[in-house]
Parts: sequence; C-alpha cells; structure tokens
Amino acid sequence: MISKLCKTKLYILRAQINTSSLEITKEIVDSRLRNAIELYIRSFHNKQTVFKMSKEEILKLLNQALELEHGAYVQYLSHAEVVDGINAEPIIERLKEIANDEKAHQEKFRTLIGLLGGVPSMGIAETHPAKDIKGILEQNLKDEKMAVDTYRAILEKLKKEKIKYYDFLLEHDIRHILMEEQEHITELELLLGTQGSSY
Ligand SMILES: [Fe+2]
Ligand SMILES: [Fe+2]
Repeated sequence: MISKLCKTKLYILRAQINTSSLEITKEIVDSRLRNAIELYIRSFHNKQTVFKMSKEEILKLLNQALELEHGAYVQYLSHAEVVDGINAEPIIERLKEIANDEKAHQEKFRTLIGLLGGVPSMGIAETHPAKDIKGILEQNLKDEKMAVDTYRAILEKLKKEKIKYYDFLLEHDIRHILMEEQEHITELELLLGTQGSSY
C-alpha cells in the first residue's frame, strides 16, 4: 500500500512533469520516487524501534515487579516464623495468607512477562528482617506501600504506551494485583491499630 507521503510526492512529481516535461527526466523521477519511498520506510522502521524500546522497558518494569513479589513472599514467610507471644497465632496465620497472595502475584507477573515474549526474572528484591510483631507489621506496611507506588507507575506507563493487543490485559492484571496490595495495607494497619493512617 502506498503511504500518504508517497502519494503526495507522486502528485508533486506528476504536476512538475505536466508543467515542465522537458526539464524532468525519467532518472530524476526515479531518484525522487526512490527518496520518497526510503523516507517512508525509515519512518516506519523508526516507529517499530520506538515500540520495541517501550516493550523492553515494560518488560523491565514487570521483572522488577516480579522480583518485589519474590521478596515479599519470602519476607512474609520468614516473618511468620519469627512472630511469637500470646497474640502470635492469628498474626502468623494472616502473614502466611498474605504470602500466598504474593505467590499468586508472582505467577501473574510471570505469565504477563511470558506473553510479551520476555524471560521472567529469577532475582529477588531486597528483603528486611524484623524482630518483633510491631517491627514486622511496620516493615511490611512500608514494603506494601512501595509495591503500590511501583505498580501505579507501571499502570501510568501502560496508559501512555498502548500495546495494541496487550494493553487491556496488562492493565487489568496489574490493577487487580494493585488492589490486593492496597488490601494488604488495610490489613496491616488493622493489625497495627492504625486503620486509615495511610489514606
Ligand atoms: Fe504482591
Ligand atoms: Fe502485598
């Protein structure tokens, strides 16, 4: 299919030939047409490069998110073993339940990365030890907020990119994970007795 650009160039060339056919040789027409086609191909290639770069960038963000989920999973399970005392049992149970949510998030991110043709990271984000119940809950609250900020930034990025056949799927899954991280924030606040403080 001839692009708009080529059509315009052809129109101009035809007009020039009609008005001064003696001055325009076949070689000039050929070279001008070739230039117009090259320009069109180059502009198309540039668009492809831009798309590929943003896809790579999105894969990088998704892999960072996956590493955060690896870290969150390990951290919640480790913290669940550290908690003790008279009120420990319900908190241990809740930390393990949240760890299972983080595991499900890992699977979702891995699937999304695979769908985009990427390789899921096996890396893990930095984890943070904590000694007592308050310290554990505060640390995880801080990390949940960081996850929310990270996933919100990815969503913003996706809104700009429009990845043709994947954008709604990505947006839906990341939004779902983001909502669950916000639920984790609410639950940690409830356990800390600071409900609504992160509003
Ligand atoms: Fe998560
Ligand atoms: Fe979480």
